[in-house]
Amino acid sequence: MAESSAPVLPSATAHEVIDPHSYAAWDPLLDTFDRLREETPVVRIEPDEEGLFEPFWLVTRYDDVMRMSKDNATFLNNPRPVVFSLNAAIEFSRQATGSNMLVDSLVVFDAPIHPKYRRLTQKWFMPRNLARLEGEIRNLAKRTVDRLVESGPQGDFCKLVSAPYPLHVVMQILGVPEEDEPRMLMLTQQMFGGQDADLSGSGMDNMTPEQVLELVAGAVRSFEHYFAEIARARRANPTEDVASVIANAEVDGQLLPERDMAGYYIIVATAGHDTTSASTAGAMQALAQDPEQWARVRADRSLLPGIVEEAIRWTTPVQHFMRTAAEDTELGGQKIAKGDWLMMSYVAANHDPAQFENPRRFDAARSPNRHLAFGAGAHQCLGLHLARLEMRILFEELLDRIETVELAGEPQRSVSTFVGGLKTLPLRITVAGEKT
Ligand code: HEM
Repeated sequence: MAESSAPVLPSATAHEVIDPHSYAAWDPLLDTFDRLREETPVVRIEPDEEGLFEPFWLVTRYDDVMRMSKDNATFLNNPRPVVFSLNAAIEFSRQATGSNMLVDSLVVFDAPIHPKYRRLTQKWFMPRNLARLEGEIRNLAKRTVDRLVESGPQGDFCKLVSAPYPLHVVMQILGVPEEDEPRMLMLTQQMFGGQDADLSGSGMDNMTPEQVLELVAGAVRSFEHYFAEIARARRANPTEDVASVIANAEVDGQLLPERDMAGYYIIVATAGHDTTSASTAGAMQALAQDPEQWARVRADRSLLPGIVEEAIRWTTPVQHFMRTAAEDTELGGQKIAKGDWLMMSYVAANHDPAQFENPRRFDAARSPNRHLAFGAGAHQCLGLHLARLEMRILFEELLDRIETVELAGEPQRSVSTFVGGLKTLPLRITVAGEKT
């Protein structure tokens, strides 16, 4: 347990940090993080009388989040949830699966299991292997840009481009045929979109917490059945996709148990699209807000990698992860006890002025840009090279075809504490070579 002298966040601020709506409002939350980094960079969040969640520490400074990410022996992913969870959700998982999380996957394992599982696909996700996919990804990007152009001079970039494109890419690498993509999207949204009424697509806002949990568990079961079929097919006829690697992978001489295999598919299926959608939409927002920048990068494509990287920092699509202390330790001047639960706020860390000058500014030339949007250490994002590649290829295609972009309305952010970003981005475009 924490020392009694530990700073405790006043309940209004604590509520702000765990309220998904704060992440939709964004700037006031960044103001709060600025204040906390200065005053109480490692601070307790205690539940109110209702006791809806377990107490935890909120960590807001870049250096502290970096240290936690890299010290995987002291800060464990297991056994508490890796994402901020209400007690009801944890209890539901325990009853359904015997584990604190509904799905066991890379993000839940620690050493010695984690490195064994991670090694199975690590090479597949490296740039050398991904280079083989460039042609396929470019085709998906071209088709996506075609649809944007065909839809006319004004439209929602999220709906037309940034939501569908990363989903197509992930489904392609998992061998999911295009006709099944809507079902996969619905299942992902049921698993993660529950906090945002517009995104859950299932009227979750009108459901009781029990009904929501049932729906989420049902989504997990559907995923498991679906991917068990894919695995059977890939064992019979392996291809070069990551689905085949997972289906045929062995740990200690054995194929993966069903549940772990399903967990692997589910983490790749779900981790790879909403995240990249958010950074892609953020990149476009930044460029549309400053039309001269669009013209500059059209003329000089060497600016693109900087834009992609800065968009990933600026948007920080994965807003936090949780860790559990394996032993007593100290962090940011506070005594952390074995078993304590801690929230690494990537949003706060990526806006730490001690690391990033003028952090709220989108600076395509920022260098160095050692952001924490992909995490760090043993669990650092497995798909980071794929995310960068997808974004670069998409923007190359967009820059070729679109002459000018500007905002056509106020963009809206999603309501979510975990993965978040723009859910609408109204744009006006002109197409290269066409008279307006
Ligand atoms: C801009 C896009 C993305 C962002 C911001 C992002 C962010 C993250 C973060 C913060 C973590 C946890 C890191 C940690 O605990 O230290 C993570 C883990 C992971 N990501 Fe990503 N991700 C993105 C795209 C992708 C893509 C495209 C894929 C794959 C298709 C992917 C697959 C994974 C997997 C499998 C893990 C778990 C790794 C492990 O625990 O060993 N991500 N990602």
